[in-house]
Amino acid sequence: MTIQNSNDIEWWNELALRLNGYQGNYKVNFVGLNGEVEFTNLVKDLLRDHPNTLDVGCADGRFAIDLSSFASRVTAIDLSPVMIEAAKKSTKAPNLEFIVCDAKEMPFSDNSFDLVISRRGPVSEPVFLEEAIRVTKPMGKIIEITIGERDAIEFKDVFNRGQGYLNKSKSRYLEIRNRLELNSEIKISQIHEYFCDAYYPSIEDVALLLSSTPIIDDFNIESDLPLLRTIETEYHTNKGIRRTYHRIIWIAEKL
Ligand SMILES: C[S@@+](CC[C@H](N)C(=O)[O-])C[C@H]1O[C@@H](n2cnc3c(N)ncnc32)[C@H](O)[C@@H]1O
Repeated sequence: MTIQNSNDIEWWNELALRLNGYQGNYKVNFVGLNGEVEFTNLVKDLLRDHPNTLDVGCADGRFAIDLSSFASRVTAIDLSPVMIEAAKKSTKAPNLEFIVCDAKEMPFSDNSFDLVISRRGPVSEPVFLEEAIRVTKPMGKIIEITIGERDAIEFKDVFNRGQGYLNKSKSRYLEIRNRLELNSEIKISQIHEYFCDAYYPSIEDVALLLSSTPIIDDFNIESDLPLLRTIETEYHTNKGIRRTYHRIIWIAEKL
C-alpha cells in the first residue's frame, strides 16, 4: 500500500476511509513539552471570552467535539468529505456544525467569528491566512499549532523525503513570524516553538505512525521496509525509537 502526497485531498479521503477518521493506532511517549497540551490549554482559555469559534481543517472533528463542551458555538470545516462524514457520525452536540469546504474560500461573511483555531490544519500559508483573517471579527483572535521544519527530521533524512523536507534548513518559526508581523490587519499576541523527543516502543509503532500521517510522502510499508530497518538501527535507545517533535504555536489579534 502506498501513502500518497498529503497535498492531495484524495490522500485525506483515503486515510479517513482506512482509519474511519484520523487516529493512528500507534504508541508514543514524549519527554518534554510537545506543544499540543499547551495549545489545548490556550484554546480553552480563549474560548471563555471568544464564544463563536471556527476550527479550520478539523479532520474527523475530535478536537472540535472536545471544544464544543467549552464553547458556545463551534463551526468546523474540512475539505475532505470523508473526514466530515466521520466527524458527523461521532457527535450530536447541538452547538457544533461540520461543513465540507476549502479553507481558501470559506462560505462565511466577513467578520463572522470571535476565534479561529487550527490544529495542524492549513492556516499559515498566505492564501489561507488572508481568508482566516477575513472571517475573524475585529478584536477576535486566530490561533494555530503547526509543524516545524525539524519535525521527525531523523526519519525524513533516512527517507530523503517527507513533509516540508525541501525546506528543512529554513526556520518556519521566523517565516511565520515575519509573515504575521508584515500583515497590517493583525497583531501577534504570542508565538513560540516547542522541541521535544518522542519515543516509539517498537518499529511497528513507527510503521503505523508513517502509515497514518503525512510525515513521509508516498510511504509504502513493503518497499520502504529497508529504510524502516535503518531507522530502527540508528535511532534505537533504551526509551524506544527516538524522533524529534517540533511545533509552532501562534496567536494573533485582528485589528
Ligand atoms: C493534520 S489534519 C488536521 C487534524 C485535526 N485538526 C485534528 O486536530 O485532529 C489536516 C486536515 O486539513 C484538511 N485540509 C487540507 N487542505 C485543506 C483545505 N484547503 N481546506 C480545508 N481543509 C483542508 C485535511 O483534509 C485534513 O483533514
